[in-house]
Amino acid sequence: MILQFAERMGQIGTESAFEVLAEAKRLEAGGMDMVHLEIGEPDFDTPENIVDAAVAAMRGGSTHYTPAGGIPEVRAATAAYVARRTGTKPEAENVVLVPGSKNILHFALLALVNSGDEVIVPDPGYPIYASLASFVGARVVSLPIRQSNDFRIDCDELERLITPRTRLLVVNSPGNPTGGVLLEEDCRRIADISRRHDLMVLSDEIYSRLVYEGDCPSLYGTEDMAERTILMDGLSKAWAMCGWRLGYGVMPRPLAKWMETLMINTSSCAAAFTQLAAVEAFTSPRSEDAVVAMRTEFQHRRDILVDGLSQVPGVVCHRPLGAFYVFPDISATGWDDRKLAHDLMHEAGVATLSGSAFGSQGAGHIRLSYANSVDNLERALERIGSYISKHSPVAAR
Ligand SMILES: Cc1ncc(COP(=O)(O)O)c(C=O)c1O
Repeated sequence: MILQFAERMGQIGTESAFEVLAEAKRLEAGGMDMVHLEIGEPDFDTPENIVDAAVAAMRGGSTHYTPAGGIPEVRAATAAYVARRTGTKPEAENVVLVPGSKNILHFALLALVNSGDEVIVPDPGYPIYASLASFVGARVVSLPIRQSNDFRIDCDELERLITPRTRLLVVNSPGNPTGGVLLEEDCRRIADISRRHDLMVLSDEIYSRLVYEGDCPSLYGTEDMAERTILMDGLSKAWAMCGWRLGYGVMPRPLAKWMETLMINTSSCAAAFTQLAAVEAFTSPRSEDAVVAMRTEFQHRRDILVDGLSQVPGVVCHRPLGAFYVFPDISATGWDDRKLAHDLMHEAGVATLSGSAFGSQGAGHIRLSYANSVDNLERALERIGSYISKHSPVAAR
């Protein structure tokens, strides 16, 4: 039988990190030694007290369905955590718990965007924004994020991109893949623009606990943004809980109601014991100590990677303020970013991602995650430096 796929499948993209990881694992299985700097996942184990809380929840019988939007006490604990972090006053009913924060983006697009509406996404940006927006039939409008602007949003440029069809603006600070962080003045300007153009905003703040210098202002927490913003966040990055699959959104109640309906129609609910473990993550001083310890270690690794890459001829590496990625400009080496990422993995044993995988504005860069040990970062630096010095792109083609 010839399978016939729906037309919309032609619109969906992917996240290259997962594809490159699979290819790197395949090369490793064939005997190659590989340093993994492709996937954005903390290499730390989840703090023990959070694991204990999940085990206790399971032993205590929390192995059943929960209400679709989440267990009421967990929604309340999430709202209280967001209130502390952002200075807002969300209530349990504003919170929806989902198995991974991507669901919040997908549900927001399904609930708010009609076919042909425009969705503004950062470029370079997390590839799932453009992928899901085009999957639901939106026209994707790229907002360039430039190294020359410290990987912040140029608000004048943003305003010029808004049309009567603009339905949703997606903002990500600290940003993947750049590590760029918006300043308070940026957030205030975005708030002003959103108010004047009556825009809904999705603010992906999943890296908000990983900021190394200065503050991380929350766009959700800026002025009156909570009434027009969907805060997207999750436990994956701050508490090293990627495999637990727990994300959440905080949003106006009528939208939260629709997201509950979308949960009923898709996953039913996030896992009960995972939700209960989140209360331990949000409330225990031990969990907070673990977040701070991981952040301190990430900062140390960031500096090793930035300093090392800056020694490589032709590589210009901005020191990012947040997340756990560096996004060096490699254009002066003469390499095409896709070819360099490919060859570094296949020939030098370092898995990275091409900047182009994050949007056309990412060309000329590669993304490296420093969620890996200092030993591995040093091995990667040695391999990258010697590969780029020994192989000119022309000879390699
Ligand atoms: C910017 C950004 N948002 C959202 C996610 C999704 O995280 P999760 O699905 O684990 O909640 C990621 C994961 O890499 C990310 O980088």
